[in-house]
Parts: sequence; C-alpha cells; structure tokens
Amino acid sequence: MTGNVVWRSRKENRRILNKILEKKTLGPQVKEFVFEAPVIARKAKPGQFLILRVTETGERIPLTIADANPERGTLTIVVQEVGKTTMLLGALEVGDAILDIIGPLGIESEIEPFGTVVCVGGGVGIACVYPIAKALKAAGNKLLSIIGARSRDLLIWEDRMRQVSDETFVTTDDGSYGQKGFVTDVLKRLVDEGRTLNLVYAVGPAVMMRAVANVTRQPGIRTIASLNSIMVDGTGMCGGCRVQVGEETKFVCVDGPEFDAHQVDFDELMKRQRSYTEQEQCSVHSLRK
Ligand code: FAD
Ligand code: NAD
Ligand code: FES
Repeated sequence: MTGNVVWRSRKENRRILNKILEKKTLGPQVKEFVFEAPVIARKAKPGQFLILRVTETGERIPLTIADANPERGTLTIVVQEVGKTTMLLGALEVGDAILDIIGPLGIESEIEPFGTVVCVGGGVGIACVYPIAKALKAAGNKLLSIIGARSRDLLIWEDRMRQVSDETFVTTDDGSYGQKGFVTDVLKRLVDEGRTLNLVYAVGPAVMMRAVANVTRQPGIRTIASLNSIMVDGTGMCGGCRVQVGEETKFVCVDGPEFDAHQVDFDELMKRQRSYTEQEQCSVHSLRK
C-alpha cells in the first residue's frame, strides 16, 4: 500500500470489475449477459458499442450495447458464438468477470421525431437494433419493426421489440414461426403497399443490410445500416475496420458504426469480413484440442 492507494492484484481486480450478474441462453450459440459496468452504463447511448477482451493474450472484439441501466450500473450484451473469443465469452458464468472493456464507442444513433420509422433486425442483430428502436419510439416516432431469424429457435427478443413497436412483423427463413421468408420480403410489401416510411434502420448480417438498401433505394427512403466490420483497436488507428461509403473511405469504429446504407459498398465489407477466415478456423481448432 502507498499512501491512500489500495493496490489490488489483477486477479482481485477481475473479481470486482465487469462482474457478470445474469446469464441467459437465448438460442443455439446465443447468450445474453448482464454485467456491472457503472461508468459505461451512465454514458451509453443507442447505437454505441464496446470492445472487450476475455483473456490476457486474446483478441479484442466489438459488441453492441444492447441495453444499459444507469441506475443499477449494468450493461446487457447479446453474443453469438461464431469463433474463439465469442466462444470463450459464452463460456463465462454468473460471478465471473469480463477481463477488460472499453466503451461506449462509436457515434450514437440519430434519434429525432422522423415520423414513421422501420427498424429491421436480422438474427442477433435484433438485440442490436432494440436500443435504437426503444429510443426512436420514446422520441415520438411511429415504430414498425421487422425481425427475422433462420428458424424459430434463433429468434431473440421478440417480446422486447413488441413492447416498443406499434407494429411488429416476424419472419423465419424456414417458416417455423411468423411469415416464411426474409425480413426484406415484409419491407418490400410495406413499400409496395405505399406505406409512408420516413426512415429505415437495418442491423444484421451484411447481406441482409445490402438487401434492405436495395429495397429502399428506388423509392428514396432514407436508410441507415449499422456495420459489423472486423475491428482491432477501435480508435481509428489501425484501419482494420475501413469501409467505402460513397467516394469516401470511413472507419467504422470512429466514423460509424452507422452509415447511409445506399452509399455503403457492402460487397467490399463482406470481402473484408472474410480476410482472416483461415486464421479464425485455426483458433477454433486450438480451442477444441
Ligand atoms: P472470429 O474467429 O473472429 O470469426 C469467426 C467468424 O465470424 C468468421 O467467419 C468471421 O468472418 C466472422 N466474423 C468475425 N468478425 C465479424 C464481424 N465483425 N462481423 C461479421 N462477421 C464476423 N456480434 C454479436 O454476437 N453481438 C453483438 O452485439 C455484436 N455487435 C457488433 C457491433 C459492432 C460495431 C461490430 C463491428 C461487430 C459486432 N458483432 C456482434 C460481431 C462480433 O464482433 C464478431 O462476431 C466477433 O468479433 C467474432 O469474434 P470471434 O473471435 O468469436 O470470431
Ligand atoms: P442470419 O444469417 O441468421 O440472418 C438473419 C436474418 O437476416 C434472416 O433470417 C433474414 O431475415 C435476413 N437475411 C439473411 N440473409 C438475407 C438476404 N440475403 N436477403 C435478405 N435478408 C436476409 O443472421 P445471424 O447468423 O444471426 O447473424 C447475425 C449477423 O449480424 C452477424 O453477421 C453479426 O456479425 C451481425 N451483427 C451485426 C451487428 C451490427 O452492428 N451490424 C451487430 C450484431 C451482429
Ligand atoms: Fe482500427 Fe477502426 S478498428 S481503425
């Protein structure tokens, strides 16, 4: 001990910071965590994200702040286990702590009374569009939500989305629940019916966000997509998250994550997402050994 400063070992700190208070399995390989992070919880705004690490030598991964409770000092994240780090995170239990977290990162969503807004969430992207939908509804918008998953067991947070929406449409690719098809089938129907739609928000796989942009481009409906590029530092220095938006190269971590979907080069985004597939597969194999 030096003066009034209490030194704690890293292990002790880990027990105190970022402690997991609740864990739920939402579907195959999809987990929800509520954990203590009072400083971030006070500052978090819809559309922002965190970068966290699970082990000392591990990667840093970006995850959306799906909900924040400033009074309780907690954050909620929903994680789909797709590779080594998300699998390690998914294996943590109540009482464990997340090693380190930085956030809130990224520019917050534009929340204004736009009129009628459609929030489109695909798969785990539903949890990421939820805080935006909640804030848009609170700002006085009429909120239509379209949420979709491959099958019923992968559909998450339907109850939460219904709570903040004036109308909720549900799709599954295999027809096991809701309307059979993609979220874009419903969006296209609303557009074809001549519904007045002032703004569309899309969060989900890049292929879905590209399809949403293709539906809204011709009728000229303003559309925002929250991009999920690969990230490394999250501070605008490494360039790992760069994306082409119109004539400009943008960094998703500091200029985004939200961009005009009609201007985003989704093909390049998807190509860049596959850059490290081989190394990622090796990491998963090493974990299973
Ligand atoms: P890796 O081994 O790194 O990758 C495994 C597979 O996932 C590979 O096929 C790889 O191509 C693909 N992949 C890796 N990173 C991404 C990515 N960023 N986007 C799409 N595919 C990727 N995921 C969630 O589950 N919940 C969230 O709330 C969430 N929010 C995000 C917010 C932002 C701003 C960004 C940029 C991404 C978000 N993601 C979210 C995606 C998440 O960061 C990745 O799934 C994660 O980094 C994968 O790490 P990994 O080590 O487990 O897998
Ligand atoms: P998924 O592949 O199961 O797709 C979810 C839904 O998206 C489908 O049910 C369908 O309705 C729609 N969709 C998929 N392909 C489509 C197409 N070609 N045309 C139209 N609609 C289509 O999704 P998943 O496995 O849950 O993956 C979620 C994705 O969301 C991951 O890639 C993850 O990185 C991403 N994500 C993005 C963010 C973000 O900030 N943008 C945040 C979290 C997760
Ligand atoms: Fe490095 Fe965005 S993650 S510049």
